[in-house]
Amino acid sequence: MKGELLYEGKAKQVFTVVGDDTQLVLSYKNDATAFNGEKKATFTGKGRYNNLISAKVFEFLHEKGVASHFERVLNDTEQLVQKTTIIPIEVVVRNLAAGSITRRFGIEEKTAFTPSLVEFYYKNDALGDPLMSDDHALLLTDVSLEEIAEIKSAALQVNEQLQKFFLGINLVLVDFKLEFGRNVDGKIVLSDEVSPDTCRLWDKDTGKKMDKDVFREGLGDLLDVYDNILNRLEAVK
Ligand code: TMP
Repeated sequence: MKGELLYEGKAKQVFTVVGDDTQLVLSYKNDATAFNGEKKATFTGKGRYNNLISAKVFEFLHEKGVASHFERVLNDTEQLVQKTTIIPIEVVVRNLAAGSITRRFGIEEKTAFTPSLVEFYYKNDALGDPLMSDDHALLLTDVSLEEIAEIKSAALQVNEQLQKFFLGINLVLVDFKLEFGRNVDGKIVLSDEVSPDTCRLWDKDTGKKMDKDVFREGLGDLLDVYDNILNRLEAVK
């Protein structure tokens, strides 16, 4: 049973589980934010899409042997996860250039990265999540050099699997952000969510943006796009 509210973020609430301090309930909100919270809106039904899409991604990754916090879906907007302490590193993997890297380094959109590029950002809203080096991660977080290598390798493994997963529904995985946490046994596992809020997904045939860029850039109806993704996933099996 869901206990008290532990933490509220921009897109999710985190609740305790009564009588079990190894698990948490993630409750997805209908809020969307962009540009570090500068742009905000509420979309009725969005929380359900993020919850159900992210659950499908984590179920797929589990089948592929990726260790994560995910346990199971509880209802339309909530899922049960293992309790983790989030490591304050936003791990971004890029297959094609889009978003901040085009602006920061003047790289043309759609430029392919071979091998895929892994970047670390310091998860700190007050600082606007700055880009950081491995040495910054060693300085600012509790990860070791070996764990940095482990995190990068896990992120690239997730990339290999998710590229196939999304290609199966005719979407190109342009880039995405992952978060890792330490579970109660101290093991580093994939945490947070993987959804069109945290990935860039382009339709393979039309190139149409099918992710939160629709909201960031004001390109159309975000709920239509998320509904389309969930429908494509549900049609697979
Ligand atoms: P960026 O191009 O803005 O750096 O974003 C790279 C990827 O990370 C993109 O798929 C969106 C995702 N992302 C998040 O999930 N949360 C964030 O706070 C940011 C900035 C990006």
